[in-house]
Amino acid sequence: MINSTPKIRCIANTLTYSSIKRFSLFVYHFNYGEGVKDLNVNNSATTCIHGVHTAPKKIGPIASKIIPAVGYSFPDLDSAVDTVSGKVNGNFYGRYGNPTTQTLQSKIAILEHGEASLGVSSGMAAISSALLTFLQKDDHVICTKDVYGGSYKFLTNIAPRYGITTDFVDCTDIFAVEKVIRRNTKVLYIETPSNPCLTILDIGMLSELAHSYGLKVIIDNTFMTPILQRPLDLGADIVVHSATKYLNGHGDVIAGFIVGDAESIDTMNKKMVGDLGQVQNAWDSFLIDRGLKTLGVRMKQHCQSSMKVAEFLEQHPCIERVYYPGLTSHPQHLLAKKQMKDMGGIVSFELKGGYEEARRFINALKLAMISFSLGDPETLVQHPATMTHASVPLEEKLKCNITDRLVRISIGLEDAEDIILDIEQALSKV
Ligand SMILES: Cc1ncc(COP(=O)(O)O)c(C=O)c1O
Repeated sequence: MINSTPKIRCIANTLTYSSIKRFSLFVYHFNYGEGVKDLNVNNSATTCIHGVHTAPKKIGPIASKIIPAVGYSFPDLDSAVDTVSGKVNGNFYGRYGNPTTQTLQSKIAILEHGEASLGVSSGMAAISSALLTFLQKDDHVICTKDVYGGSYKFLTNIAPRYGITTDFVDCTDIFAVEKVIRRNTKVLYIETPSNPCLTILDIGMLSELAHSYGLKVIIDNTFMTPILQRPLDLGADIVVHSATKYLNGHGDVIAGFIVGDAESIDTMNKKMVGDLGQVQNAWDSFLIDRGLKTLGVRMKQHCQSSMKVAEFLEQHPCIERVYYPGLTSHPQHLLAKKQMKDMGGIVSFELKGGYEEARRFINALKLAMISFSLGDPETLVQHPATMTHASVPLEEKLKCNITDRLVRISIGLEDAEDIILDIEQALSKV
């Protein structure tokens, strides 16, 4: 414990920080942005489609090229040596860079307002690599208490083997966060909205506190995507994604992204992801780029239908509690409205009763599919306590409201009326 009062201050610092960010973003676009830059287009759905053109505008193939090369040849030994040493920019081996993935990386960086991004082999590869880049033996992490089960497992199972310890804290309480900051704390790791209970955390306030103690702030933006929330604009240092979910959006790729400042991303590429072999392959990058083109309309539809489902559930007599940030009953509804463009595609709720009621409801669904994943066109249902968060100890689960009666639904792209009809008939069997 270091201090008892949060250092919520430095509006001036924030201004400086965001002006620096805007400037670096300008430099980034100036250097690398092609295609729609002359039109000064700055809307996310457009960027998802046109982000970066590898060919001159309106000439050449519209779909991106797949270059699955592992090796790259050089005109002479000197060029090979200069490339591997970093003296000259260029690809030399598939584990450290690929042109198809690099095209997509530029698009993701632009979308997240980061200087650079790195495509990796899964969301967990993004999370583990981003964390390990900033952590050494004997360092300490502060993590939000309701975090994705895989992230919890990494921080409690793998990280301690390398001397890294973690405190899981209720990050809606900034005093509680400051209380656990130690001399060796290096990273604040958060997820907002959280999985599965959709707790919203104040990114700006937490980032200011963390920065005042010299911590890096890493945020999992999987649930929101840059269409709905841009953590870097709000003060975070690094954004991680499971692209397996909305970014790809079709349930046929496992992949991830890390976004942040160019120096950190370069270090991750050369000294972490490449060395650990967590690389994204060109075929997957192609599929993600294709899926990304419809991200704008998909997120709109996910949000609209989720709101309808949440409202339907909230008035249903079999339902105890609904977790959806778009509902005025959500404890952080106002904060959600402030920091998110819309409320996302995940609705969680508690049935009256317990495990048996949840089981009967899930088994009775006809349209929704039972699945661990989310963000697909299909409506997907899961039971967090026994599925995605099975590895979290019972007492930790209960601290985060992950009870036996909790159900999470990833609202798909079917007609909202049909999704509701399915839920209604399943509730009648409970
Ligand atoms: C919020 C969140 N982050 C990260 C992950 C891990 O992603 P992946 O399965 O691509 O490793 C998941 C997976 O469900 C998730 O829900």
